[in-house]
Amino acid sequence: MHDSNETKLTPSRRTVLGGIGAGLVASALPMMAASAAETAKIGPKTVNRQWLLKSRPKEKLSLDNFEYKEVALGDTTLKAGDIIVRNKVFAPIPSQRVRMADGTSFEALYRPMSLGKPVEASAIAEVVKSENPKFPVGALMNVGGAGWQDYVRLNADQLTRQSVLPAGLDPIDVSSVYGVNGITAYFGLLRLGEPKEGDTVVVSGASGSVGQTVLQIARIKGCKVIGIAGGKEKCAKLVNDYGIQGTIDYKSENVAEKLKTLAPNGVNVFYDNVGGTIMQDVVDQMAKFGRVVLCGAISAYDSKNLAPGPRDMLRVIIYSVKLQGFQITDFIGERDVALADLRKWKEQGLIKHKVDVREGFKNLPEAFFSLFTGEKEGTLLVKIA
Ligand SMILES: NC(=O)c1ccc[n+]([C@@H]2O[C@H](COP(=O)([O-])OP(=O)(O)OC[C@H]3O[C@@H](n4cnc5c(N)ncnc54)[C@H](OP(=O)(O)O)[C@@H]3O)[C@@H](O)[C@H]2O)c1
Repeated sequence: MHDSNETKLTPSRRTVLGGIGAGLVASALPMMAASAAETAKIGPKTVNRQWLLKSRPKEKLSLDNFEYKEVALGDTTLKAGDIIVRNKVFAPIPSQRVRMADGTSFEALYRPMSLGKPVEASAIAEVVKSENPKFPVGALMNVGGAGWQDYVRLNADQLTRQSVLPAGLDPIDVSSVYGVNGITAYFGLLRLGEPKEGDTVVVSGASGSVGQTVLQIARIKGCKVIGIAGGKEKCAKLVNDYGIQGTIDYKSENVAEKLKTLAPNGVNVFYDNVGGTIMQDVVDQMAKFGRVVLCGAISAYDSKNLAPGPRDMLRVIIYSVKLQGFQITDFIGERDVALADLRKWKEQGLIKHKVDVREGFKNLPEAFFSLFTGEKEGTLLVKIA
């Protein structure tokens, strides 16, 4: 694939359809290498921009829940083993929204973010000061505890399980198809969904980061693939870009009715990213021994509502349907298995990956909101100048 499918974009936004971010290699890498001169300038007065979580959203998230701040970096002398990194690419994910709330029943597993601290997030970052030979200045790494800020100081203890990115790997690829979402798509579909050739596979949130990869793996496995997304244009692109067999535009079509025509014999595998009424409509049409992969429930995240279950459990019982949730951490030890297949499929031209790249630190909250409005396609990334 190539990068000629750029959509209409504002100056701070562009979408690229590429063979795993192919179109971004040229633009992303110079940015990554640009900060050698900056390294020399890092000092106590260096400005560290931050977006703090100011308050917990009562209902829908708004800009009022965040506070923009510029603070001095402070003491930049490092002990042996310490480094300072500069965040370069953020990949906002829906579950960050869940962690902005508190009072959930699953806080032991999904700890709420702290108020008054940079919004918790991971980032691809560049080492800009180092007293650690394993992390030389200029190296790129994936920093789990980066937070929405420019700089992070990491001590030797925090680096014991970290490594720099292999040379030649595009940081955009690492944040998208080879990132957590690509691996989530892989294990969720193949281990829980167990798709077989000829199965009908339905994917909700199909135009999103996880969804787009699920669609294509299901297609590779010889399934009939139906994607559910918001908007006629998005649905048309799912067919054109990923070669799937059918779509449902949940914003203008009746999901249950359209599904009856697209899957007259029922659904064998349902990969659900969305929850709510879309999930209920599809579970009502599962085939005998169908598998429902409960990956996410984004329709409930930006609200105070709980994520409800299927409305007809008798259907689940009588059709011997298996419903299973999972967290990608369940499979993280096997990550290399997924990466090997994803790389192979990419090299064979079987998988494409759409990334929606926004620019500018100040745009982080606004970009984040688009996860919930659907004003994005593929994997959302925010590149920091
Ligand atoms: N279990 C795990 O370990 C794991 C790991 C990663 C992600 N996840 C989950 O997987 C899901 C997808 O994540 P992602 O990173 O792919 O997100 P994403 O890129 O933001 O895609 C999510 C898609 O959901 C759609 N959507 C948003 N609000 C919706 C609503 N109210 N009703 C229906 N569709 C809606 C949006 O597109 P439209 O324009 O079509 O609305 C969007 O493209 C999320 O629920 C996330 O929490 C789970």
